[in-house]
Amino acid sequence: MRFDVVTIFPEYFASPLECSILGRALEGGIVEVGLHNLRDYTTDKHKVVDDYPYGGGGGMVMKPGPLFAAVEALQEQEPRGHVVLLSPQGRTFSQSRAGDLAARERVILICGHYEGVDERVRETLVDEQISIGDYVLTGGEPAALAIIDAVTRLLPGALGDEQAPDNDSFAEGLLEYPHYTRPAEFRGLAVPGMLLSGHHEQIRRWRRKESLRRTKTHRPDLLERAPLTPEDLELLEEIAEEEEVGIDE
Ligand code: ADE
Repeated sequence: MRFDVVTIFPEYFASPLECSILGRALEGGIVEVGLHNLRDYTTDKHKVVDDYPYGGGGGMVMKPGPLFAAVEALQEQEPRGHVVLLSPQGRTFSQSRAGDLAARERVILICGHYEGVDERVRETLVDEQISIGDYVLTGGEPAALAIIDAVTRLLPGALGDEQAPDNDSFAEGLLEYPHYTRPAEFRGLAVPGMLLSGHHEQIRRWRRKESLRRTKTHRPDLLERAPLTPEDLELLEEIAEEEEVGIDE
């Protein structure tokens, strides 16, 4: 899969793209990332990408000309890219939307800046707008990186053999169960005995229950939407009973 990023700060991406899973995925050819400086698509001497808003008011607006020129130049290459504008006005990014993007061959990410982009860019150049959360960043670059990261780790081979994205938080609409590693006791804090028992089926059930418990406590909104099995409903009943008598584990 290929990402093309249109940005006024291509250098912003250099070190994150070299590190860890992303770095390996790029080296292994699992994902390609093209960085395109928006200023290269300007036609004036000063490479200006923004201008004052019609109607007055504060802030600057990204001009349509360089953005259209950049995306049109990129679309001359095959396959056609799905064009995403990073913006706080977009639909909120999620694990399931990461999965949708991972199924595409090519995604073009436009990083917005200033007060926003000329509305004609949103209307005619962009296929969808994505926000990574209800807060305002100084530009779309951190959002583009978050998306490249979340999508890349879903691509076949990106996580290597040992890890699979299936157990991730959100993979099934729930938060992940708690993890422990050695030592079995640390500063008087013991690992739950169940995990040391070697009973695979009981461990699976314990993990599922803790996953449900966490989601219920921290993200009840997710629990409402999660597809629950009859076993999940049973476990949730156990959790409710434990809460009633004030037992946490
Ligand atoms: N640009 C500024 N804020 C943003 C956000 N929350 N998500 C995506 N792009 C942005």
